[in-house]
Amino acid sequence: MKHIKNFRLPNFLHGADYNYEQWLEYPEILEQDFTLMKEANCNVMAVGIFSWAKLEPEEGVFNFEWMDNLLDHLHNNGLKAILATPTGSKPVWLSKKYPEVCRVDINGNREPHGIRHNHCRTSPIYREKSIIINKKLAERYKDHPALLMWHVNNEYNSGDCFCKNCLEAFQKWLEKRYGTIKNLNRAWWTTFWSHTYSDWKEIEPFDKSVQGLMLDWKRFKSDQTLDFFLTESEPLREITPDTPITVNFMEPDVELDYWSFAPYVSTISWDCYPKWHREKNDHMEAVKTAFYHDLYRSMKDQPFMLMESSPNVTNWQGISIPKKDGMHELSSLQAIAHGSDTVQYFQWRQSRGGEEQYHGAVVTHCNRTETRVFQGVKKVGEVLNNLSEICGSNTDSEVVILYDFHNEWSINLTQHARNIDKDYQKECVEYYKTFWERGISVDIKDFSCKDLSRYKIVIAPMMHLLREDIDKTLKEYVKKGGVLITTFLSGYVDETNLSYIGGAPGPLKELTGIWIEDTEILNENNTQTFTYNSKIYESTHFAERIHAESAEVISYFNTPPLKNCPSVTLNRFEKGQVYFVASRTSEQFKRDLFNDINREINITNHYPNDLPDGVTIRCREKEGYRYYFVMNFNSYPTQLNMEGFTLYEVHTNNLINNELDLLPYGIRVLKNRMN
Ligand code: GAL
Repeated sequence: MKHIKNFRLPNFLHGADYNYEQWLEYPEILEQDFTLMKEANCNVMAVGIFSWAKLEPEEGVFNFEWMDNLLDHLHNNGLKAILATPTGSKPVWLSKKYPEVCRVDINGNREPHGIRHNHCRTSPIYREKSIIINKKLAERYKDHPALLMWHVNNEYNSGDCFCKNCLEAFQKWLEKRYGTIKNLNRAWWTTFWSHTYSDWKEIEPFDKSVQGLMLDWKRFKSDQTLDFFLTESEPLREITPDTPITVNFMEPDVELDYWSFAPYVSTISWDCYPKWHREKNDHMEAVKTAFYHDLYRSMKDQPFMLMESSPNVTNWQGISIPKKDGMHELSSLQAIAHGSDTVQYFQWRQSRGGEEQYHGAVVTHCNRTETRVFQGVKKVGEVLNNLSEICGSNTDSEVVILYDFHNEWSINLTQHARNIDKDYQKECVEYYKTFWERGISVDIKDFSCKDLSRYKIVIAPMMHLLREDIDKTLKEYVKKGGVLITTFLSGYVDETNLSYIGGAPGPLKELTGIWIEDTEILNENNTQTFTYNSKIYESTHFAERIHAESAEVISYFNTPPLKNCPSVTLNRFEKGQVYFVASRTSEQFKRDLFNDINREINITNHYPNDLPDGVTIRCREKEGYRYYFVMNFNSYPTQLNMEGFTLYEVHTNNLINNELDLLPYGIRVLKNRMN
């Protein structure tokens, strides 16, 4: 399928999921809501997300009047509609008449009707019915002036369905991938435990002891979800070719390869629900959230959309602590700082019943505007209006972290000497933190990235499943003078999860100039340290016994049995340099290593002074201006020394060249002309 045209918003959006279909019996609510939306400075609503049963109450019987009314109201009140296809949740009549649309569990039991996001993604009936309703929506609203973009389905997920249709589709998918059953057996190493298959039809995705099978099952589910998305969105592309399309992603741990969706959506959008105020401080939560924002910005190298966030609490966590004063504005603008052009919420009006009746909402059951939450939302709307010149601006990064979904699946499903706390994502986020703390912008790419030449440094932790193409891309990059940091647990398996003959780091041996003998698993009774630049650092979790070949050893482990074994090496490969870090290291080591490397590569830092703990800066650039988002994730006020800078606060145009005060959970947005 052809890739879709990218789309950039002309102005910041501020709004929410508006589930008006829940309020059809309360006509006064519609009128009141539109008054309140204007008061809250909203200019967009995402509508129709789970409204299939209201749009098609019986098979083939459609009722669009309420949606007509809603879209007309939006338009007449100057708001835009992000119109959803309603297929994220199925109507009861559909499950009852066509049980095949419900998923089948591992015991062969068909799930009863209920919940949401749980249709069978292969079912021909579900596909057919989705196309019908989506086509009707597109035909009816193609010229409606409120229609801004399509929001297809909702938060696709990777849940299992073991129905006959899915199994057959999986077997066909495998046939296409491997060609012959012999190739498949070889790729999955099925001689082990007598798991050899002799026919495609014998293959079922139940056997957790065949890692290649499990990995392919995850890939299949991801591909099949993409295929479902492309199928259900076909009428939208045909009938409204100029209307942008998005699907709202979640945190990247749902086992979908979101990178494969990126070429087929006009803009990336995602739903962000950090767990604020749960830890001693919010620093790590802020770092992790920033990493996710950067991941989604990097997917299309253009601004993304914050499609959902909670204006207050969620109601699906063990505990969810209401946002402290300042946090709503800070977390909303954090998304903007990292490249979002929207701030949107779930949901506009709190439901009276149902699963999310006590989830945070802009208008809560008390139905008043003097609430902390409503006033906080209103303020964010005002702030976005004041910052409107920033919409559409870009982010420039000289640093990239490689974080790859297939690699994560492989790390998690392969049985190692350590099977807990492998923490691939966490390791990537910890490297990311080094840059967050200094206010240096970072891109996140995956192993399908073909060109890294624009970066001064590439950090690729734990490249367990090392695809040959990324090895090639890295070689090209390093040859020309690039700097790469990679770590323990790299180059273990190929694309099908088979260990490389000759051991780890597989094809990376050439780049790293080392080979790996085995791994010490560390815990409180088996500890390890290493000395680097005369300082002692602790290793945790993994410490590999490596041997340097062409690499120079720049640090050694201290404790038997790894005493005097290399812990960090540097290999000069043509014009570039490759660092290999053989163990999981502390944040301090990551910082110090980068500092040393940075003396040579000099990463651009728009605020080169030290930042206080918990404070960060992110920049966006547009039309000759650089915008600085200075964020304080501390519960106490702090200050930044701005001597030597000539920056102006965006909304007041006041010159800031002295102390910059930051409130608790405070944010200031400044700008200057770029040289
Ligand atoms: C999202 C979902 C919304 C709502 C929200 C609550 O994941 O898309 O429909 O359920 O969570 O936090």
